[in-house]
This record gives sequence, C-alpha cells and structure tokens, in this order.
Amino acid sequence: MTIALDPGNTTSTISPLLHGQFIEFLGECIDEGLWVGPDSAIPNQNGIRTDALEALKRLAPPLLRWPGGCYADTYHWRDGVGPQDQRRTTYNENFGTYELDRHGFGTDEYLRLCEQVGAQPWVNVNMLSGSVSEMRDWMEYCNRAEPTDLARSRAANGHAEPYGVRYWGLGNEPWAGGGTMTPSTYMDLYRLFASSMPSFTHSNDEPGMMYPIACGPDGNKPVERVEWTREFFRELASFRQPPISAYDLHFYNWNIDHEEDSSTQFDQAGWRRVVEGCLELEDIIDEQWGLIRAGLSAMPRPEVPQDPRLESVDLVIGEWGNWHRDAFEVRPALRQEVTMRDAVTTALTLDILQRNCDKISMACNAQTINVLNSLILTDGDATILTPNYDVFMMYQGHRGAQAIETPRQDQQTGVYAFASVKNRKLLVDLTNADMDAAVDQTLTLPVDVRVEDMRTLVGEDPHQFNSKQNPDLLRARRNAFDAPIGREVTAHLEPASVNTLTLSLA
Ligand code: AHR
Repeated sequence: MTIALDPGNTTSTISPLLHGQFIEFLGECIDEGLWVGPDSAIPNQNGIRTDALEALKRLAPPLLRWPGGCYADTYHWRDGVGPQDQRRTTYNENFGTYELDRHGFGTDEYLRLCEQVGAQPWVNVNMLSGSVSEMRDWMEYCNRAEPTDLARSRAANGHAEPYGVRYWGLGNEPWAGGGTMTPSTYMDLYRLFASSMPSFTHSNDEPGMMYPIACGPDGNKPVERVEWTREFFRELASFRQPPISAYDLHFYNWNIDHEEDSSTQFDQAGWRRVVEGCLELEDIIDEQWGLIRAGLSAMPRPEVPQDPRLESVDLVIGEWGNWHRDAFEVRPALRQEVTMRDAVTTALTLDILQRNCDKISMACNAQTINVLNSLILTDGDATILTPNYDVFMMYQGHRGAQAIETPRQDQQTGVYAFASVKNRKLLVDLTNADMDAAVDQTLTLPVDVRVEDMRTLVGEDPHQFNSKQNPDLLRARRNAFDAPIGREVTAHLEPASVNTLTLSLA
C-alpha cells in the first residue's frame, strides 16, 4: 500500500520539450479554432482567438509542431505568406476536413505565435508534393540572417530578425498517407532532402543548429514498426549517411472498434481498455530505443570524423493521444469531447514520457485545439478548456526537473505514480485509474517532507465533459492537506482522478 520515493535516486533531466503540442489544418484546429482572422467578430489578436491565445500563454507549451501531420504533405508555404488579401485559396481535403483553405495562418503567424507563447517551433516539410528547392527556400525564409531576397521578404512581412527554426521534420507517416513508401523508398527521398538542408552555421554562429527529424514507424503496428526501424537504420548505414538528429514515432491510443463506445459513452470495460491502451507506449519506447541503438552500433565507423548529428539519434514522439470512434463521424472532422477518461490517459502518457526522459527527447500531444486529444475546444465564440488542459498545467513543474526512480504502479492500490525533484521540491503525480473506487495512497521517503500543495482533477461522473453551457465542470482544484512534517504522506484519491502533490524537503 505504499510507494517508496527517494529524492536522491534520480535518473535524468525531464526535457521541457516532452510537453509539446501539435496543431494542424484539420477540422477546426486552426481555421475557426485558433485562427479566426483579424476581421472576425470573435475577439482576436491579429487573427488569433484571444481566449485561446491567453490559455496558450498560461500553458507555455515548450514545443509546437505545425503544419501537419498529413496536411504538411500538401502544404506549400508560399501560399501562406505576405499580405492576407493576396494569399491563395486552395482546397483542404485532409482527414475529412473538406473546406476552402484561405491560408490566413501561415509561416509568420505561426512563428510569431511560437514567440508569444514561448514555444520552440517544429516545422514539418512537404516531402510528398513539395520539392527540395521549396524546402530550402522555406528554411532560408525562416532562418537566413544575410539580406538575401527571401530574408528581405521576411523583413517586408514584419520580421527582420531570422526566426532561428531548429526543428525540421522531413515528411510525415510515409508508410501510410505520406506516400505509402517502404523504408528504403523513404530513405531515398530522405537522403535528398536531408543532405540538401542549408546549415546556417555561419549566419547563426551556431554549429549544428538545424535538427532534421526523420519519420519513424507506425507505433500501432507491432510487427511492421520493428521491421521499419531495422530497415531504416540498415539503409542509413549504407552509402553516404545524411544528417539525422531524431527519429519520429507516432502512437495513437485507438478506440474505434467498439460500436457502443464513444468519447462520452463508455462502460467499465471501455474505461479499462482505453486506460490500458495508453500504457502500451512504454514498451514501444523501450523496443524502439533498443532498435535505434542497435542500428547505430552496427554502422561502420567512418575513417574521417562524421557529422556529429550521426553520433546519436534521438527518439521523439511527434503525435500521441486518444482517438475515439466518433472523431470519424462528426463535423467538424476529428472533434471529440474530453472526459476524465482522456484526462487520466493524458496524465499516464505524460508520466511515461517523463519516466523515459533518458530515451525520449521531445513529444507532441495530438492535437491542441478541436482535434482528437484536445486541450482547448471552441464552440462559436466560446473557448472551453478541457480537463486535458488542467493535466498539462498540473504537470508544468516537471519541466526541467530530475526524474525520480518511481514504480509505475502500486500493485496493491492500483494507483499510478511518477515523481520528480527540482529546487528541493518534489512533484508527485498520483492517478487513481479506478472508475469507481476511492483509495488512500501512502508515500514513504527517507527524509522529512512537508506537504505544500495537493491538486485534484475529478468529476462527479467520469462521463462528464466541459461545454459552452458548463465550461468549468471539470477543473483542477486545490485540496486542503493538513499533515505534519514527516517521512510518510497519505493522500485520499477519489475514483477516476488525477492528482499532484508538491512536497518540500524539510
Ligand atoms: O493527428 C491527425 C493525423 O493523424 C495526422 O495528420 C497524421 O499524421 C496522423 O495519421
């Protein structure tokens, strides 16, 4: 009935980039959601919905991936720069979106948003219908300090300084909608794109500033994902190796095969299936990390020093989240409500990422607004913060902290846990994933601690969700916690609840 925590027993630093977000032109994630345009009656700041912008500023996502996803493979960046009234109109038919695409939210709007909310941009390049030269021009537009034509056009569009975009994804899900490729056909394209990326080493005075991200496998396919990674790294070793900084795995917690289950309607079995489904990610991380290490160590050692970006390859998770059946059936496309079932799996997934911070460098929730595992939902002029938003807020203290060796689950109480320490304060996550039963969870420590704060996110009913009519039904609240300084802390955890405790070392 106890979880033992030793603040001296730490593993690695939790990169803030594990708390990344993903926005894409699907459904109403960007158009109508985040981006309403400067002429909208909905309050906005230069076209960005004010309430959503303020919520993102409070959240301060350290990383924001854009413009896709599958959409990236149809995106031509020049459509979205320059005066708003001169931008092209195209048609977006990605993932059931079916809307005119007016390109109001383009490169400058996105990169300024990143600056406003303090996020590192991760731009995904169009490898399918785009070209190497289009990619090079995009990089030049974003990052060139010298007054080239593209740098001057960036200045004319309001940003004289280079944006310094470091993270560049090359292609998206090439095993499916991104080209139905094999690892070897993808590698042929990857070589072309990666080896022709400009370095900006001179102009930015920052060697290795560019961080090319290769597509990894479909995390949901156990056999194929192993074959993909093995073959990708075999191919990487052959011929001249192109630069690669990271390898991007996607993992969705699919919940689409059960007629009776939707984002808001589920029984005990549906609750358990989704909770257990998200936990698979931990084994996948182990497996893929091992395959990457094996692939790298099998590579022939070059006689001349190689690009330092080949010494190691980071594992990143560019897309993760719950995907319920109704996301395919609604308009706008891919919208789903967010209940405590999603908040619990969001908490457990962040715990997995944080516990594996020695293996994972960055990760993005899919997606931030109005699509899949949302933090923000909009309904006309209303902006609703989902309980997933609260989970990310409750977990902010883990960013940059040291991960403490923590058992994933107390086998007796069933409670899931994770803890980190920063500035002599422990942040302890305790998730009671039992849909019906409350539980008392005890923590033991080798040193005295004082309980500074306890926060709880819970609903009266796990099927509830926040809506325009009731936007704060599910909101994290502060719990009174009166405990003496000591080496043992017992917290009462309500059913289906996400909790954090802040303990200070006495
Ligand atoms: O996040 C929605 C879609 O899921 C993305 O566009 C694609 O990469 C993935 O299949």
